[in-house]
Order: sequence, then C-alpha cells, then structure tokens
Amino acid sequence: MGVLHLKINGDDLEVAAPGHWTLLEVLRYRLGLTGSKQGCDKGDCGACTVLLDGKPVLACLTLAATVQGRHVTTIEGLLPAHVAAGGKGADPVQDAFDRCGALQCGFCQSGMMLSARALLNRNPQPSDAEIKDALSGNLCRCTGYTQILQAVELAICEAAGRTPTPRSWERASCADSGAASASDSGERSA
Ligand code: FES
Ligand code: FES
Repeated sequence: MGVLHLKINGDDLEVAAPGHWTLLEVLRYRLGLTGSKQGCDKGDCGACTVLLDGKPVLACLTLAATVQGRHVTTIEGLLPAHVAAGGKGADPVQDAFDRCGALQCGFCQSGMMLSARALLNRNPQPSDAEIKDALSGNLCRCTGYTQILQAVELAICEAAGRTPTPRSWERASCADSGAASASDSGERSA
C-alpha cells in the first residue's frame, strides 16, 4: 500500500492504494468514480476510457502509479470542465448523445463520449474516416453505432454553427431503409 498523488478532474488528490492497482481500480474502488466502466478489463472494449492529458487511454491497462502528476479526466469531469470554460450545462458531446438517443444500456457511453471529446478537441472538423477511427476502440453491443456517429456529427455541426449534412453512415442507413421497404412490400430482386 502506498500513497498516490493524482490530479483527477481538476482536483489534486492523495489516495492510498496498492502499488499494482490500475487507474480504473483507483477511480472506481477508491474514489467512487464509477462512470469509468469495468468491461473486459483487458484492453478490448474501451468502456474504461479516460483522458490522460487530453488523450484517450484505457484505464484498465494503466497503472495508477504511472499517471501521478498528469491530468486525468473521467466522464464525471466533463460537465464541470465545460462549465468552468464558460459553457452552460453538459458538454456538447454529452448533450448530443442524449438528444440522438445514442445509448441503450449505457455501458459504453462514457468511453465513447470521452473518445469523441478528445477527437473534437484536437480536430473540430474531422472526416467520416477520422470519426470512425477515433471511436474504433470503443465497442457497443447495443446501438449498432449509427446514433453514436450521428451524435458526434451533431456536436461537430453545432460547434460550427451549421446544419448536419448526410454523412456516409446516414447514406448507408437510407439504403438499409430502402431495402427494408422493398422487402416489406414483398418485392424480390429476381
Ligand atoms: S475495461 Fe478496459 S478495455 Fe475493456
Ligand atoms: S449502449 Fe449498451 S454497450 Fe453501448
């Protein structure tokens, strides 16, 4: 057992924890920050994603002792950071996920939103490929990803003051609906 000196969501904290504990274990089991989810616990799912000096990392694979003195942001810190920067209410990414219904069970959501926030901080106008690449380490077993991608697009457009235009996933979605209607009407291709 040792004392860790951590900067979590803008607070300087001293936390007693075993030296082999991961950042995820310290967040959840010492600090009660359970927004970071313990999914696979081996680097596969992205549910434990937090920001380390603004970049997404997997908290389940990060030793807590190695992040001392660096800035850790968890999902609990997004809204306060947005308000401290002069915003009102939730971070626009959180707001967009809410309005687009980009969740079902919600287990992936905090990691998804933090990955999206990191992307938009470094590149406010990403391409389709860059958005998908930024979220590629975050798995969702429920939504099929379309609403998640739409939420990121909504946050991008609102930040730029423009209306969302169809992206590749929306065109794919339209094509899916067309196929569904043909099938519903009993049409056959041959
Ligand atoms: S819990 Fe960390 S990647 Fe799955
Ligand atoms: S909403 Fe259930 S895992 Fe994504």
